[in-house]
Amino acid sequence: MDLGCGQGRDALPLGNLGYKVIGVDHSSVGIEQLNQQAKLQKLPVEGRVGNVYDYPISAEVDIVLLDSMLHFYKNDLAKETQFVEKILTELKDGGIFVNCLIKGQQREMTLKKLLKSRRLNGKF
Ligand SMILES: C[S@@+](CC[C@H](N)C(=O)[O-])C[C@H]1O[C@@H](n2cnc3c(N)ncnc32)[C@H](O)[C@@H]1O
Repeated sequence: MDLGCGQGRDALPLGNLGYKVIGVDHSSVGIEQLNQQAKLQKLPVEGRVGNVYDYPISAEVDIVLLDSMLHFYKNDLAKETQFVEKILTELKDGGIFVNCLIKGQQREMTLKKLLKSRRLNGKF
């Protein structure tokens, strides 16, 4: 599941590699373009319009990908922290959470701390 997939910069190549991908984005234009390309290229990729912050992660999902979705700027910190917590809570045991962040010491430390606190609480 690619949360915030946009037009499918990651979802389409992943589909090409054989992954079954559900991409979620609130841009109906982006999702329409993604679905058009997926159909054209006959890829196992389905784009859905939705809000990533409350989109349910079902048991069929093995991997959650966030690419360029977390910035941890001061104003977004609480919202993004809750978002990560929600993903870790809903993702099934053994599921994989993949993050691609723009390089930045503060940003990387914030995510590491968040993931570490989950491990220490025995939930991850
Ligand atoms: C920086 S782009 C990253 C797109 C894609 N992950 C990539 O790396 O090419 C952020 C994407 O998140 C989407 N987005 C932002 N907030 C969202 C929300 N609350 N629900 C769904 N999509 C959202 C935007 O529409 C945009 O496509």
